[in-house]
Order: sequence, then structure tokens, then C-alpha cells
Amino acid sequence: MKEQLERIKAQAMAALEQAADTSELEALRVKILGKKGELTAVLKTMGKLSAEERPVMGQMANSVRASIEACLDQRRQELAALALQAKLEAEAVDVTIPGEQVSLGHRHPMNIALEETKEIFIGMGFQILEGPEVELAEYNFTKLNTEEGHPARDWSDTFYLKEDSSVLLRTQTSPMQIRAMEAIQHPPIRILAPGRVFRKDEVDATHSPMFHQIEGLVIDKGITMADLKGTLETLVKSLYGEDSVVRFRPHHFPFTEPSCELDVQCFKCHGAGCPTCKGEGWIELLGAGMVHPKVLEVCGIDPEVYSGFAFGIGLERMAMRRFQISDLRLIFENDIRFLRQF
Ligand code: PHE
Repeated sequence: MKEQLERIKAQAMAALEQAADTSELEALRVKILGKKGELTAVLKTMGKLSAEERPVMGQMANSVRASIEACLDQRRQELAALALQAKLEAEAVDVTIPGEQVSLGHRHPMNIALEETKEIFIGMGFQILEGPEVELAEYNFTKLNTEEGHPARDWSDTFYLKEDSSVLLRTQTSPMQIRAMEAIQHPPIRILAPGRVFRKDEVDATHSPMFHQIEGLVIDKGITMADLKGTLETLVKSLYGEDSVVRFRPHHFPFTEPSCELDVQCFKCHGAGCPTCKGEGWIELLGAGMVHPKVLEVCGIDPEVYSGFAFGIGLERMAMRRFQISDLRLIFENDIRFLRQF
């Protein structure tokens, strides 16, 4: 039995030394020390020994078991340390390697132009409003002093959504004048309402069936055409520089009286006439006027007490001028090569 125990010990030590990971160690432990293990099998034969031999062999068996267990523990620790080392090496991060460059997107030129315009008007105390693109004909036309039968309401120009012409895609942001007056009721009112508008236009270098306008409205006691001119001149000078020259031209809109259009002197030829301004020397930027008394009345505001002005800016036109873009289609095509320039 002594030899048997010594052999088990020697074999066990050698095998443990060879074990490559903790699961092999565990398998060895079961094989040697487990219920059906080699050492256990030897101990079961102790009964056959003489009374003198038994304690001697028992002591020896215990010491073999203790040595194997100690060796197991030691190997377990060694293997755990090795595993940790390997893991650390595998997961090591070299903090000196330069990071990957994250490429930032660009703001769309229309967005830049819109943000700049908003900032200018917010600085003058305007409030930003947004409203529906699917609009009632009542707001897009009727309440804006554009009665049924008016040529502006023609089916050939407007995307109607109902046979009875009562619902449409708004053709202008001017219905926001009505919505603002109805909502706020008590002047002073100073609002700016940017948004999409729709008209049945063929696509070309200066037309699109969808484009953007920015509506402005100011209502208070004692508002005159001088306020309109001062406000719009401030806009143009902030956008295009202190030395820009503007001109107000008489025009007609059903919902303003008097009405005008504002032109900016061409930035390229300074009024002489060139391809950019189509030889005219001036570029049209917006329509404006004093709010018609009928429109104030429809919205429950007394035209004897209050007056106001309104304007509608073509945002594409403004962005095109601002960034010297020659073709409107570029703005909507989302060609990365174009957008990257801003
Ligand atoms: N809504 C007009 C247009 O689309 C512009 C405008 C707005 C004119 C406000 C006067 C006052 O042409």
C-alpha cells in the first residue's frame, strides 16, 4: 500500500504540473480525490490492514492527500494569475494611438439663412411661431381679403386637397398673420413665422412647387410705414452688410394697403446690371405692406386703434443671394458635393 500511495502522489504531482487550465485541474481533482478517485479507492482497502499498519498507512494517506491538495491550490493560483495576465495583455489599450476622426455633418445653407434671420428678429423682440402646411382656404385666402373668385385662388396655381376648395396646401405663410392675431388678440404683436409653402410651379432654376417663406407681422398703436421700412432695412443691413442699398417699390397684395416690394441692390454689379440680377441691377427679396383694416377687423382687432405691417420673405431667394447660389434646384437635390461647401 505504501508504494501505491507513493505512486499516486508522484503521478498526481506530475499531472497537476501539466494541467493547462482550471477545468483540467478540476478534472484531476475528481479523478484523484473524488468519491470514486484513486486515493479514495486505496483508502477503502484500509480495513484489510493489520491493527499496527492501519494508523501508519492512515497517516501516510492523509499526508499524501494534504500534499496533493496543497499542490492543487498552488496550481489553481498560478493558473488564475496566468489567465489574468493573458486577459490584461489581450485587452490592453494603447492610449498613444491617435483616435479615429469623427466626421461632422454640415448645416444646410437654408438652415443657416433661416437661423441668421431668426436671430435678427429675435433681437428686435419678435416671437417665433409655426403653423400648419395643410391649411383652410378661409385662412390662406378669405380672411386675408382674398374672396372667392379672386384669381389667386385659381385651381391652376393651388394644390387643393378637397373638391370643394376648402382645404389646401398653403400657398403662402400669410395665413399665420390671421392665426397669430386670433391667438394673441391683444397687441402689441410681433411674430415671425417661417415655413414651407406650395404652388403648382414647374421646376426650373428659380421655381419649385415647394419653397419656404418667412412671414412677419407687427401690430401696435401708431405703427406706420416708417416702422416697416426701418425694420426691413435693419434686416437687410444685418444680413448683407451696412453698405447695402435697398429700394421699396409699390406693389399690390389684397391683405396689405399700401403694399410694396423690397429690392436689394445687386451685390455683384452694384446696380449697373449683370447676369446675377438679370441685368436689372436689383434683386427682389420680399413683399410687404401695412395690414389692411379689413384683415384687422376680421381678427377682432380695432383698426381705429391699432395698425401694423406685414412682410413675407422668400427664404430660398435670400439663401441664394447670401451664398451666391445660381440654381434653386441645388438647394433641394441634397448633393453632398454641393452641401459640403457650407
Ligand atoms: N404672401 C405674399 C406672397 O407670397 C407676401 C407678403 C406677405 C406680402 C406679407 C405682404 C405682406 O407673395
